[in-house]
Amino acid sequence: MTTGKRRSSGVGRGGALAGKVAVITGASKGIGAAIAESLAEEGCRLALAARSTELLEEAADQLRRDFGAEVLTVPTDVSEEGQAQALIEKTESHFGAVDILVNNAGMGIYGAVDELDLGDLRHVFEVNFFGALAALQAAVPVMRRQGGGTVVNISSIVGKFPQPLGGGYTATKFALQGASGAARAELKRDNIDLVVVCPGLTETEFSQNSRISVPGAEHRQGERHALTRGVDAGRVGRRTVTAIKRGEREVYITLFDRLLVCFAVLFPGLLQWLLIYVTRYRRRRFEQAAAEEN
Ligand SMILES: NC(=O)c1ccc[n+]([C@@H]2O[C@H](COP(=O)([O-])OP(=O)(O)OC[C@H]3O[C@@H](n4cnc5c(N)ncnc54)[C@H](OP(=O)(O)O)[C@@H]3O)[C@@H](O)[C@H]2O)c1
Repeated sequence: MTTGKRRSSGVGRGGALAGKVAVITGASKGIGAAIAESLAEEGCRLALAARSTELLEEAADQLRRDFGAEVLTVPTDVSEEGQAQALIEKTESHFGAVDILVNNAGMGIYGAVDELDLGDLRHVFEVNFFGALAALQAAVPVMRRQGGGTVVNISSIVGKFPQPLGGGYTATKFALQGASGAARAELKRDNIDLVVVCPGLTETEFSQNSRISVPGAEHRQGERHALTRGVDAGRVGRRTVTAIKRGEREVYITLFDRLLVCFAVLFPGLLQWLLIYVTRYRRRRFEQAAAEEN
């Protein structure tokens, strides 16, 4: 599902990605690893970034074995100042180009808005928002010199409507959506596409890697708090690559996700009612889990 299909002005022109250089943050597992696989399948040369060196090396070896891909690994913490910039510089000096940047590194934070630890929330903003922005700011001058490129920001359907007890995470994705919309218009003259991908629930280790920001609610870590089952990360990877080729503006993975977002936009009153119901449901789940633990 997609909105705003248009002719690509970035790397996707003609649909051929073979030989293009793609940087993917958060590429050690989950959605980032799946996007890397789909790009390798297209013949891209890859720079994989994440914090865990060992997982990155394993992912890189797999891509070399399966696709004969040229892969550079760059251990990177995007929340640390200067590291996103260094990632782009290392990629350019190794491959001589940066054609595609996929800002995928991300984490969640759970807790009611009035109880969130602001230090935790700032950290999640550093990863999900400022890290992505820093990488974009480093990559754009390179893409300008090359005459074009594509930036992909991995947002979420909760970048479109609030997630109860996930308001902090929602805020990081709303911020990313807002900046992406402006940047897309600004970068048009530089022949740089900006694609936003909004996955819904996807089967990864995301909830295990998220922060819990409610005192006494540490048991939430690793739990799945969703009402539906997630899609396979490979599907998100394949859809992202199609979006890069087409230079799409905003992409949803399933019809259900798309309908949910349409519902949220068209019926804000009903949405609010639904959110109250979902909040009650999730609170009950959390309380049950806490009771079982004690
Ligand atoms: N799973 C879902 O249901 C879902 C739905 C919508 C959107 N998303 C978005 O999809 C993206 C990927 O999430 P995922 O589901 O694949 O989660 P995941 O399995 O937890 O993977 C997260 C990736 O980000 C990396 N990462 C985390 N913090 C980082 C940091 N400070 N610097 C560099 N890399 C970092 C992790 O590697 P290291 O730990 O090695 O650093 C890992 O490679 C996120 O932006 C998330 O918000 C996920």
